[in-house]
Amino acid sequence: MRAQRVPEEPELEAYDRVLRCGYGHSFDIARQGYVSLLTGASTKMTGDTAAMLDARAAFQRGGHFIPIADAVTHTMTACVRAGAVLEVGAGTGYYLARVLDATPQALGIALDVAKPAVRRCARAHPRAAAVLADAWRGLPLRDGALAGALSVFAPRNPGEVARALAPDGRFVVATPTERHLGELIDPLSMVRVDPDKDRRLDAAMAGHFEPVEQRLVEYPMALDRAEVAHIVGMGPSAHHTTAADERLTGLPQTLEVTASVLVSTYRPAVGTVR
Ligand SMILES: C[S@@+](CC[C@H](N)C(=O)[O-])C[C@H]1O[C@@H](n2cnc3c(N)ncnc32)[C@H](O)[C@@H]1O
Repeated sequence: MRAQRVPEEPELEAYDRVLRCGYGHSFDIARQGYVSLLTGASTKMTGDTAAMLDARAAFQRGGHFIPIADAVTHTMTACVRAGAVLEVGAGTGYYLARVLDATPQALGIALDVAKPAVRRCARAHPRAAAVLADAWRGLPLRDGALAGALSVFAPRNPGEVARALAPDGRFVVATPTERHLGELIDPLSMVRVDPDKDRRLDAAMAGHFEPVEQRLVEYPMALDRAEVAHIVGMGPSAHHTTAADERLTGLPQTLEVTASVLVSTYRPAVGTVR
């Protein structure tokens, strides 16, 4: 797909820019800079809310996830120097933007099912396109079109990512371990990371991908109460925070909290159908 400027005719003023596919379908680029490629019957997935995105952006601005972003960027740029890089469930576009900063020859695609997310992603990086789509419904990408793909705390759809990756492409996946934010789970009744998550990830990837390497990124973060509130607000526990809000005030002013994430690299399995 390529961006195409519509000739300036008065009746087309409302449609500043569109994307056209080879079959002649056209998709408007929204005023906020993203394109909706949600297809078929409307999806039930709505993704993160605007409030969750605000909390995530505020927390990321504090810099506490820089070691995770550095590990993801280093892992991706060790194998991908140019071409298209997709982030599935891109949220604020924080990780994709860092990968693009480190790979001047690459172009980014930030895909998310939440409108507030793709609005942010449209501003995340000058070389990133923002696409509203449901990753579980199939990726709106040609077979083998991607040099790299990224999923950080986000959905993966391994079959579809494998189809869209070039045979020598890489999929970098960051998942929390059960120690991630462990100090907050009981005091704030947050949702616990499934201790079986790692095994489930391997099982979901099997048949589509082969593991290349894995690294653990684990470190303490000194968080104040406002930062802890952002963490609660940006995650799955955001839906059950009434009680947690009250418990927040019972926490010390500053708290040491563990960040613990596995950054795994995969290559498409031999024989992946494209
Ligand atoms: C936990 S957030 C992580 C966001 C970002 N990767 C980060 O770490 O800052 C998960 C993101 O996945 C998106 N998401 C959830 N289900 C999705 C789906 N089916 N298709 C695309 N995005 C989805 C959510 O809207 C949300 O932005």
